[in-house]
Amino acid sequence: HLGRYPLPCLQGKKVLLTAGPTVEAIDPVRILSNISSGKMGYALAEAALASGAEVVLVSGPTALAAPAGCRLIPVRSAAQMRDAVLSEIPHTDLFFAVAAVADYTPACPSGHKIKKSGEPLTLTLVPTSDILATVASLPNPPFCVGFAAESQNLEEYAKHKRLAKKIPLIVGNLAQRALGREDNEVILFDDHGRHPLPPASKIELARQILSHAVALMAHRGI
Ligand code: CTP
Ligand code: CA
Repeated sequence: HLGRYPLPCLQGKKVLLTAGPTVEAIDPVRILSNISSGKMGYALAEAALASGAEVVLVSGPTALAAPAGCRLIPVRSAAQMRDAVLSEIPHTDLFFAVAAVADYTPACPSGHKIKKSGEPLTLTLVPTSDILATVASLPNPPFCVGFAAESQNLEEYAKHKRLAKKIPLIVGNLAQRALGREDNEVILFDDHGRHPLPPASKIELARQILSHAVALMAHRGI
C-alpha cells in the first residue's frame, strides 16, 4: 500500500466521503443499482486516515471492509446517503463525493413483490437530489471534490460538471475504465487547468488526489 506520493498532514481535520453504489428499491426484492465497487472511495478513505484525519465514510453496499479507524455509515438509497452526508457536514473540512449515486429512483416502490403480467411494464423514475451540488451550495461548505464518470467527451463534460456544481476540484475518468476495476487513469480539473495523472492503482491515485486537494486548500488558505 505504500505509494511514492508524499501524504499531506491532516491531523485535526475531518474528511467525509461517499463511496460505492446506491440501491433503489423497485419492490421488496428488486433493486436499481450500478456496478460501482467502492474501491476508489475506500482507497481515498485509507489515504485520508494515513494522513491523520478523522474519516467518516458514507457507503452504499460493497464487498469491501471499511478501512480500520474510519467511521462507516452504511446506507442503501440515494436519499439515505444524502441524509447521512448532511448530518455529518458540521466540522467537515474536506468532502469527497466518490459514490456512484443513482440519478433516478422509482417514483412509487411497490410494497409487495410485483407480479408478472406478460405485458410490457413501465417503471416511472423520479430524479434524486444531487448530494455534491447540495453540499457545495451550503453556506460555508467544506472543500468539495467531485468525480465525473463519463463514457465519452470526458474533458468537456468533466469541466462543465465542475463549474455547474461550483466545486474547486473534479476528478474525471472514463466510466468503462474505472468502474469495478483495481486501477484507473484520471484527469484532475481545477481553477488552474487540467492535470492528467499516469495510469495507476486506485490506492496510488487516492494519495495523489488527496495531495492535490490539500495543496489547493493550502493555496486558498483553508
Ligand atoms: N453526485 C452526487 N449525488 C447525485 C449524483 C452525483 O453527489 N445524486 C456526485 C457524484 O458522487 C460525483 C459527481 O456528483 O462526485 C458527478 O457524478 P456523475 O454521475 O458523474 O454526474 P451527474 O452530475 O450525476 O451527471 P450525469 O450522470 O448526467 O453525467
Ligand atoms: Ca450521475
